Amino acid sequence: MPKQFWKGSALLAPVPAALVTCGTADSPNVLTIGWTGITCTRPPMTYISVRPERYSHDIIMKSGEFAINLTTSEMCRETDLCGVKSGKDTDKFALCGFHAVPAHEIAVPIIEECPVSLECRVTEHKLLGSHTMFLAEIVGIDADERFINEKGRLDLAKCGLMAYAHGEYFELGKRLGSFGFSVRKKKKKRPVRK
Ligand SMILES: Cc1cc2nc3c(=O)[nH]c(=O)nc-3n(C[C@H](O)[C@H](O)[C@H](O)COP(=O)(O)O)c2cc1C
Repeated sequence: MPKQFWKGSALLAPVPAALVTCGTADSPNVLTIGWTGITCTRPPMTYISVRPERYSHDIIMKSGEFAINLTTSEMCRETDLCGVKSGKDTDKFALCGFHAVPAHEIAVPIIEECPVSLECRVTEHKLLGSHTMFLAEIVGIDADERFINEKGRLDLAKCGLMAYAHGEYFELGKRLGSFGFSVRKKKKKRPVRK
């Protein structure tokens, strides 16, 4: 297959379209973030990259805290809204009908309507160019009990999570397998005793 070679760009997909909360219970803000991911398992670390001109940038810089709230396809419209409106002149919680609820480890509220929220404390920040990368430890997780099964495991497949790829939003689709399935031995079927 012939391929075209392009100059380097931020074309990694899919990524989450996460709702990142910052501020306080009295004055919360939320912005949509695509540039996020996991950087370490132990300790659990993440990053978000935020342009310095965003209203949220200085709030996160000053408080050193934020929360990453995962989004579902049902909240696609609100997620987009939080990515085009600024907290400078808009109360995005009121606009989207989101409820700000207290987190456990940070003063930043989380979004009640989101199935999972990651409470994050900034450990380092670095201005990379267009964006400041905030590296942070994930100090707590808030998971909606409706998606925790009888074994105490979080069933993310039931949440209807959303993804963002090259400017477009997508609903996650069919489950194709689970970690390590390619090498897992199949369980032998026991003969049915009659
Ligand atoms: C899908 C999507 C992803 C986005 N990802 C980022 C991002 O990773 N970093 C960033 O600085 N802005 C990102 N934005 C833009 C901000 O969310 C947007 O400028 C927002 O209005 C900033 O809000 P604030 O001024 O209240 O902080 C994204 C917007 C959308 C719609």
